[in-house]
Amino acid sequence: MLSFDFSEEQLALRETVSRFAREVISPRAIQLDETDEFPHDIVKQMGGLGLLGLPIPEEYGGVGADFISYISAIEEISYASAALGVMLAVHTSVGSFPILYFGTDEQKQAYLPRLASGEWIGAFALTEPSAGSDAGGIRTRAVKQGDEYILNGEKIFITNAREANLFCVFAVTDPTKGKRGVSAFLVERDTPGFTIGPTEKKMGLHGSSTCALTFNDAHIPAASLLGQEGEGFRIAMQLLDGGRIGIAAQAQGIARSALDLTARYVQDRQQFGRPLAQLQAVQMLLADMATRVEAAHWLIYHAAKLKDAGKPCGKEASMAKLFASDGAMSVTTDAVQLHGGYGYIREYHVERLMRDAKVTQIYEGTNQIQRVVIARQLLKETLKK
Ligand code: CAA
Repeated sequence: MLSFDFSEEQLALRETVSRFAREVISPRAIQLDETDEFPHDIVKQMGGLGLLGLPIPEEYGGVGADFISYISAIEEISYASAALGVMLAVHTSVGSFPILYFGTDEQKQAYLPRLASGEWIGAFALTEPSAGSDAGGIRTRAVKQGDEYILNGEKIFITNAREANLFCVFAVTDPTKGKRGVSAFLVERDTPGFTIGPTEKKMGLHGSSTCALTFNDAHIPAASLLGQEGEGFRIAMQLLDGGRIGIAAQAQGIARSALDLTARYVQDRQQFGRPLAQLQAVQMLLADMATRVEAAHWLIYHAAKLKDAGKPCGKEASMAKLFASDGAMSVTTDAVQLHGGYGYIREYHVERLMRDAKVTQIYEGTNQIQRVVIARQLLKETLKK
């Protein structure tokens, strides 16, 4: 087991989630991948265990756990299913935290208990056809009319969209102000004029839904504004700072799963009259895989510790996301290679892990964007020295 100075409480929670993931989710991983169906029964059990409201304060129906525990939970769930890992990460980091951090008392009372219990699922709608990496280029418009806003526009690649009840939506309220003219809104699923498109067919992460959203004169109450008008871009960026630690943990769960499967396989598989594990060429690859996983672990929990301490963590979150997701891609690719022909067969799991790993280099900011965030912060810090 990897080490980090986890408290007894953090370790106990991690252990509980790990047991649940391996006993309840792992046996269903191949079925989820093949059917691409959302496992409502498992998500209900996750809600019952408090996993959908882990870092939400108890007064709003959550568990009140710290950020490190929440990140551990994403990692352990992702060890068994990366699809459920991202469901949890998006639901919490960018589906529930917007309300906890920026919501009014009324918004917190109205939504957090339902999200924390898992009765409602949360989603985050920033990306648009012409605004991916350039998140500030969104075009969805929100126009205030009396005590309502009217939304028009389109969002794409929205995780959890098929099941979500509440969407944190970013739209332009003042087109003359660029990124300072973006605002955030809480939009309920049954809002007239708001439609959810068909589920995208993806390379991996089967079981996690991804859909486009259309707003066609969707009327939402003015009270659905999150924070102040014009604060939306900053809100999105702050949420993504924490969100990226969650994606790093998801990637880490995938990588650890691939490493464990491979370390077992090479000890079973005999070639040239002995187990593969006795070949030094195999040992070299395994050692590199394990080193990547260990290093990612420290980056992830260092970033999570900063977040728990209320310190800036944008650069460290991007470093963790960059390193862990590149590591997951590399480790899962080597895992397939070390499994040889079996690695290409679904039953052996590692090809699924490789497909699931790929998106962790892309979403919540491509790894090229993570480098931009890291470099900008590094340059700022250097000037202060
Ligand atoms: N915290 C607070 N404020 C921030 C911030 C942060 N981390 N980063 C930027 N800001 C503020 C800046 O201070 C600036 O404020 P002022 O206007 O007051 O000066 C403002 O935001 C604009 O900042 P930049 O000029 O740096 O903005 P930019 O246009 O250069 O963009 C970027 C920066 C990092 C490239 C950003 O566009 C970005 O993160 N892009 C990637 C988008 C992304 O991650 N999308 C993920 C979609 S969600 C998802 O993937 C979920 C899922 O399905 C799993």
